[in-house]
Amino acid sequence: MSTAACAIDFGTSNSSVALLGATAGGGAPPEGFRLVELEATHTAIPTAVFFSGEDGSRAFGRAAVQAHVEGHEGRLMRSIKSILGSDLIERSTEVGPGFMVKYLDVVVAFLRHLRQRATEAAGGPVERAVIGRPVFFVDDDRARDAQAERTLEAAARSAGFSEVAFQFEPIAAALDFERSVARETLVLVADIGGGTSDFSVVRVGPGQRGKVDRSADVLASHGVHVAGTDFDREVNLAAIMPMLGLGSEGRSESGASVHVPNAIYHALSTWHLINTVYLPNRLIELRQMASLYVDQNMHRRLMTVLEHRLGHSLAAMAEAAKIDVSMHGRAAIDLSMVEAGLAGDFDAVRQQAALAGSIERIVAAARLAIAQAGLSPANIDALYFTGGSTALAALSGAIAAVVPDAAQVDGDRFTSVASGLAVDAARRFGPG
Ligand SMILES: Nc1ncnc2c1ncn2[C@@H]1O[C@H](COP(=O)(O)OP(=O)(O)OP(=O)(O)O)[C@@H](O)[C@H]1O
Ligand SMILES: [Mg+2]
Repeated sequence: MSTAACAIDFGTSNSSVALLGATAGGGAPPEGFRLVELEATHTAIPTAVFFSGEDGSRAFGRAAVQAHVEGHEGRLMRSIKSILGSDLIERSTEVGPGFMVKYLDVVVAFLRHLRQRATEAAGGPVERAVIGRPVFFVDDDRARDAQAERTLEAAARSAGFSEVAFQFEPIAAALDFERSVARETLVLVADIGGGTSDFSVVRVGPGQRGKVDRSADVLASHGVHVAGTDFDREVNLAAIMPMLGLGSEGRSESGASVHVPNAIYHALSTWHLINTVYLPNRLIELRQMASLYVDQNMHRRLMTVLEHRLGHSLAAMAEAAKIDVSMHGRAAIDLSMVEAGLAGDFDAVRQQAALAGSIERIVAAARLAIAQAGLSPANIDALYFTGGSTALAALSGAIAAVVPDAAQVDGDRFTSVASGLAVDAARRFGPG
């Protein structure tokens, strides 16, 4: 007997699951799949795990973020997808006094949680999955990229899936778009999420929908490891870290004027590296750096952040500032959790400057995808946007300018990839 199948968009920031075929209550949904409500009625949840240091329990999604915000003893893990292609994946992190967890096991725990939700929704075990993957987990290193996919497959098997297949996330988005197109269309898909910006050039159309092998319709795929979490880091480095000493005046042992070391600020601003700054040895080393700071206030603030483990809260503040600026043109930054009365602000001009280099790299990747398809921008009929970061007008505008004649279509930012993966899963596994 074949078991139920699902599709998983395992995102850097958010994840979704679509379930194929019959539901727990019987009867198949008209589209052949449905998005699973993963947390209350939410079909997309933060890719986040909280390990309690108090009792070893785990929380996922919004509940994980909430447990951390409420100040429970334990560790919040975010951006775990970014670790797949790095050496960190085999290492462990301390989640409570003397309680270590391997980063890989964090990925397994999260996937097991998604599988459990899918199993509840299906009313029986879900053992087959199509999982989305970025065009490149790791830029410019094929061996490590392949290793990252193998790691994710092994994690999915440990989480209880016996059959696992992968599909590029932007191709999945194209399959979602194809459900609504009335005529043959050459589409450039732009999927700009938390970790990667991915582009595919795909021929879609009513006549193509039923075909199992779509390789001839996928003209090119290209991506870069630059997206929303990088924007958060850039906003953090521009708007928050200077208030903790980044770029401030330092004094070397010989008395020469230097900048204070910046590696700590970089790690503290990078979602998947935040937990590495709290290692006991690192804290001792940083405490001893006090003499390097001309302004002792700056060092004191930095140590407050490290000793109270405020890194994730600051990163969340940087992300909120980015979104506020993207929607309203400005943001207020309240750092009273670091020091009474400490505050700053951020605006569109500074955001534009902070993100300019990243936006340029993303736009270059879009151009390259079109060139790799052997096409010119004028050949593209439609530009399909998905992924949370496409809400940034400066970014989506810059991509749209690459294909000025294409019709712009906005997909569902957070669930388009999961829906398209479900279309792909139905073709591979049958309707369920
Ligand atoms: N209104 C907004 N303006 C700017 N950025 C936004 C907005 N809303 C969400 N984002 C950003 O979108 C990103 C998350 O998007 P999404 O959920 O598509 O990513 P993901 O699928 O988890 O990541 P990936 O596909 O790269 O692995 C986050 O960086 C978030 O800050
Ligand atoms: Mg995504």
